[in-house]
Amino acid sequence: MASVLVTGGAGYIGSHTCVALMEAGWEIAVLDSLENSSSAAVDAVAEITGHRPRLEVADCRDEAALEKLITEMRPDAVLHFAGLKSVPDSVADPLRYYRHNLESTAVLMEVMQRGGIRRMVFSSSATVYGPPDELPVSEAATTRPVNPYGWTKLLIEQMIADVVRSDPRWSASLLRYFNPVGAHPSGLIGEDPEGVPGNLMPYLLQVAVGRRDALPLYGTDYPTPDGTAVRDYIHVMDLAEGHLAALQALESSAGQVHTYNLGTGRGASVLEVIAAMREATGHPLPYEELGRRPGDVPELWADPAKARSELGWSATRSLAEMCRDGWAWQSKNPQGYS
Ligand code: NAD
Ligand code: WQD
Repeated sequence: MASVLVTGGAGYIGSHTCVALMEAGWEIAVLDSLENSSSAAVDAVAEITGHRPRLEVADCRDEAALEKLITEMRPDAVLHFAGLKSVPDSVADPLRYYRHNLESTAVLMEVMQRGGIRRMVFSSSATVYGPPDELPVSEAATTRPVNPYGWTKLLIEQMIADVVRSDPRWSASLLRYFNPVGAHPSGLIGEDPEGVPGNLMPYLLQVAVGRRDALPLYGTDYPTPDGTAVRDYIHVMDLAEGHLAALQALESSAGQVHTYNLGTGRGASVLEVIAAMREATGHPLPYEELGRRPGDVPELWADPAKARSELGWSATRSLAEMCRDGWAWQSKNPQGYS
């Protein structure tokens, strides 16, 4: 295999994966509507790698645009990052989320089918598990999402599995990311959320750079060692490399659909993340203790053994590196890409 179409490739995880792909010698093209990203991310990918990928500004639901790109490019596989990802927005407007995420994937797969492109890697999420029965969470754990966003991911996983079952020329890898954080060590690309960040790491980085006064810390009475919630944070470059491993495995997976957790297998509490970020930034990072955020679980971390044994991939970067590289990005780009 040599070429990949990357939907959502201007976004946070997609842009980092583009760098990893290009550095591994893959030819790529990006299809992105830019509704939650900037073409500046693709410029930065070009600066890091020394090659400018083709960028098609279009929506995955735009069948004609997709068909044109696939016909011209004839990619060997598609990495499908494009989609809406805000949990609270999905609760407020579920129909928008179901329609956007499911239709994007269905149109993409129809066009792929017509073009004879049948290898796909999909960005799923640990959100599909919901509250875990036991830790660490393996791929065999019960799935019971607690928000519409998580349901869109689970339904898309089902849709992809059904397509593979219907035509054994297809193969697919469903990657369940835990908590992607950090940035490329160059600091040229990174996470640039719109408005007030909903996630811990980007919020802390904006406090460090002076855009926000103090972190709202949600929940200090969890049944965890320090009372704050525990998550499996994974460096976005480790995650990017997981996609490469999954792509390579698709070459010998016709008729199969595989599901993998992409996490480190280690949990860190909110207070541990704050301490690591203080160390990386030299900033005091004040926080305000608030009540629990609705929908949060006390603890969640991955069992990443399946990806290690079947893909030969495991995360290697530490929490300190996640903070260091996140800070490289935020300190160089205090206002993000704008
Ligand atoms: P992101 O919003 O930065 O990237 C998504 C990209 O897709 C954006 O550039 C956006 O403009 C584009 N896009 C959205 N809908 C589109 C459409 N219909 N057609 C074309 N482009 C479209 O998000 P991200 O954090 O990079 O996440 C990438 C994927 O990984 C998403 O599917 C997300 O649900 C999933 N995911 C993210 C996380 C996380 O914490 N960031 C965790 C688990 C899973
Ligand atoms: C981590 C911890 C918060 C912000 C989310 C999505 C999930 C996946 C990854 C897409 C929690 C606490 C946070 C803040 C805080 N995305 N926190 N103050 O909730 O584990 O996962 O992103 O698939 O679907 O739900 O990540 O970074 O939001 O929160 O105290 O300002 O930090 O309460 O305990 P989460 P997060």
